[in-house]
Amino acid sequence: MTRTPLIAANWKMHKTVSEAVQTARDLLEQLGGAPPDDRTVLICPPFTAIMAVRETLTGTGILWGAQNMYPRADGAFTGEISPRMLADLGCTHVIVGHSERRHIFGEGNQLINEKVRAAFEFGLVPILAVGERLEHRQAGLEEAVVEEQLAKGLMGLSADQIRQMVIAYEPVWAIGTGETASPEDAQAMHRFIRGWLGAQYGEDAAQAVLIQYGGSVKPTNVDQLMAQPDVDGALVGGASLDAEQFARIVRFQAP
Ligand code: PGA
Repeated sequence: MTRTPLIAANWKMHKTVSEAVQTARDLLEQLGGAPPDDRTVLICPPFTAIMAVRETLTGTGILWGAQNMYPRADGAFTGEISPRMLADLGCTHVIVGHSERRHIFGEGNQLINEKVRAAFEFGLVPILAVGERLEHRQAGLEEAVVEEQLAKGLMGLSADQIRQMVIAYEPVWAIGTGETASPEDAQAMHRFIRGWLGAQYGEDAAQAVLIQYGGSVKPTNVDQLMAQPDVDGALVGGASLDAEQFARIVRFQAP
């Protein structure tokens, strides 16, 4: 089974509309007008810039998506954005369960599960982010924490849905800190995740699902991370804000 790597930018709460458009244009220029055809490239701008980024990226082969959503089609949910609205903007993917959503905004596994399911209902590919905190890793609990996030976050999904989705393993201690999991630690967790998915949903689904690594991915470490057999892509925060750095990450060369 060959899995097409997915390199995704998570711009978080960065960039005005004009800054977002400029970065998207710069990225296209850096990539010579289109991404390499053996990998998928996705940009997740803040909601306010999705429409403008769409105009810049339409027809280029680079995809766009969202960083979050509320799991209802519409309704009295002041301040929220629905999967129906994201689909209308041509978003292909939506990140759910990012650790900043879990820890700053108190999102729990049940809400995250509703978001995963709502994404599928509206034809969006969910990127479910999971990952342990430093204290969990120090206590040897990293697999138990990730297993619980997977079990609860994926509740009610079919094997066919699992094969279509993306899991992003993002150890919380590596996000925005400059600390990266070693390629071996990343591989060990990715292998654990794929093994767990295989036991629950069957080997076919486990071999098809994309498992991205996230947490201080940079031009200097992406090649070694992508060389790991179970690392199928990267979810990039800080280094995705700069077109040149992100373009280098997109052009990773697994040794
Ligand atoms: P980082 O963020 O690359 O800045 O560590 C990754 C993420 O939070 O998705």
